[in-house]
Amino acid sequence: MTDQTITSVSRESRIFKPSAEFKSQANLGSYEAYRRLYTESVNAPDKFWSKQAKEHLVWRKPFKKTLQWKAPHAKWFTGGKLNVSENCLDKHLGTARENKAAIIFEGEPGDVRTITYRQLHFHVCRLAHILENSGIKAGDRIAIYMPMIPEAMIAMLACARIGAVHTVIFGGFSAEAIKDRLNDCQAKLVITADGGWRRGKIVELKANVDKALYGAPSVQSVLVVKRTGNEVNMVEGRDTWWKEAWEGAPNKHTAKAFDSEHPLFILYTSGSTGKPKGVLHTSAGYLLGAKLSSHYIFDLKENDRYFCSADIGWITGHSYVVYGLLSNGSTVFLYEGAPNQPEPDRFWQMIDRHGITILYTAPTAIRAFMRWGDNYVTRHKLDSLRLLGSVGEPISPEAWRWYHKMIGKGRCPIVDTWWQTETGSIMIAPIPGAIPAKPGSATLPFFGIVPKIVDEKGKEVPRGTDGKMIITKPWPSMLRTLWGDDERFKKAYFGDYPGVYFTGDGAKQDKDGYFWISGRVDDVLNISGHRIGTAEVEAALATHPSVAEAAAVGRPDDLKGSALVVFVSLKTGIAADDALKEALRAHIGREIGSFAKPDAVRFAAGLPKTRSGKIMRRILKEIAAGREVKGDTSTLEDFSVITALQQED
Ligand code: PRX
Repeated sequence: MTDQTITSVSRESRIFKPSAEFKSQANLGSYEAYRRLYTESVNAPDKFWSKQAKEHLVWRKPFKKTLQWKAPHAKWFTGGKLNVSENCLDKHLGTARENKAAIIFEGEPGDVRTITYRQLHFHVCRLAHILENSGIKAGDRIAIYMPMIPEAMIAMLACARIGAVHTVIFGGFSAEAIKDRLNDCQAKLVITADGGWRRGKIVELKANVDKALYGAPSVQSVLVVKRTGNEVNMVEGRDTWWKEAWEGAPNKHTAKAFDSEHPLFILYTSGSTGKPKGVLHTSAGYLLGAKLSSHYIFDLKENDRYFCSADIGWITGHSYVVYGLLSNGSTVFLYEGAPNQPEPDRFWQMIDRHGITILYTAPTAIRAFMRWGDNYVTRHKLDSLRLLGSVGEPISPEAWRWYHKMIGKGRCPIVDTWWQTETGSIMIAPIPGAIPAKPGSATLPFFGIVPKIVDEKGKEVPRGTDGKMIITKPWPSMLRTLWGDDERFKKAYFGDYPGVYFTGDGAKQDKDGYFWISGRVDDVLNISGHRIGTAEVEAALATHPSVAEAAAVGRPDDLKGSALVVFVSLKTGIAADDALKEALRAHIGREIGSFAKPDAVRFAAGLPKTRSGKIMRRILKEIAAGREVKGDTSTLEDFSVITALQQED
């Protein structure tokens, strides 16, 4: 934990109650019903979760024990066996959903494809065979580095079907970042595409994989989807076109059942060191969390068409594009490209074109839409929408009101959903027919979740007081460990407050018990809803030959939430000029990915440090924000560094 002060800034006194019309059709239509279920879920969690698991999941072998909890390790539904892909696909066959659209896809160039549950099942079965024929066994790791196209979802489900552990790598990551992840999990196979469309240009995914593979010897084969048609280099004996592998692969596949705790996926995310953390999620508990939360929080109905704009390379894409939605038999709308391609009204066009009923997006996108101007919105009807969601960052009351009025036309409830890669599924959010919303607050906890706001010592603080948010009870979709680093798992999440999960977020609870999350209190930044570790950026800069030392901090930004500012002191004799600033930005782009390029590079003769040599990021944050340096500076080694920094730039 760091010494940053936490302040919740969001305020809006109006309370938005669900309309009678929404309530009457809702999956959970009253506050009393929520309270009753919530109370049951936390007073008798074993009974509650056992009932939900039996009701919501298809088991091949019933589980014996609901929870085995030896903090910080949880095992849920032990003794049970199931297949996650069967829960997302086979279950719907032979029902009215068989010929329902599972995926409606729109590519950035405008190509549209609809895939029914039956067709999706065929695709997944085929790929399952192909993977098995390439020698993949249950437990092997497969990396997926793909654009937002149906094949990405098929790849995830095929891994789940054969018990292979997928690690999806966001398409914005660089070759260097891919290599690190492949090596960390010792991936055997990579599924990728020639390229993907983004803002009218081709992102050359296969070329990035090729570069990464020079340093990732565990990878034996690569499967390549043809998407953009750009020329790619296919390495004989290693690389196969998806389409060629397809020929002759049977479209029926008998799925094996796996233990409840069989690993489902690893998803790398940023932490407070230079090395990303491989968050491990397992099968039954994760799926139950994703399914149950989707059902209640998105209030899913049979004829919904649901659009989540998150990339499947992030946890939101895993839980709320793939697993939570398909296990509920929903129709998922998948869009490949940028929201402003060709024009800033692409989302609104697609919502009208496809009759989208639920939109789940991030505040950073909402702020961009606000900036692009209302006239892009008002030329579309948007009358199919019935529910809106927000995820990834605190949503300011201003953005909330705009979203509510301009997109939801005052008619659609907004679910502001707080959760994390580590939590697997939504933890705090309004169940839309039951919990009145307060703009800027994620409201109340989901079933079984017990968040508390505590001080440094772990003592609960009074309502209305800022503190740090912990989760006191285990929940089914919680991360199980960090891949290959259980010690780091224990320390990062259960080290600050022994035995309880520390979220890394600051928050407060108001008099009604509503949670107001202010953001990270550790060294993790949230830039445009992307999680970036300051230490990762610093580690990347440290590998540049001109850099002596670097520190990365966030600065409040109207559009991105936080902007990334790096302070760099250079080696002796290196000229601090604009060309070097650009070179350093490009270097970070190569080491991590373009999305991590800093918004500002500031050169400094020295960085503010304590006498023990620790960089005082709190001070740099104030300087980056153009604020007066306040707070205790008595531990600072050399005050003149601050004056020099303030004069820079
Ligand atoms: O700081 C919180 C913020 O995003 C962090 C988790 O980031 P990540 O693991 O990348 O997952 C993002 C998508 C679930 C949290 O620690 N965060 C997420 N949702 C909200 C939020 N902050 C405020 N309000 C939210 N609704």
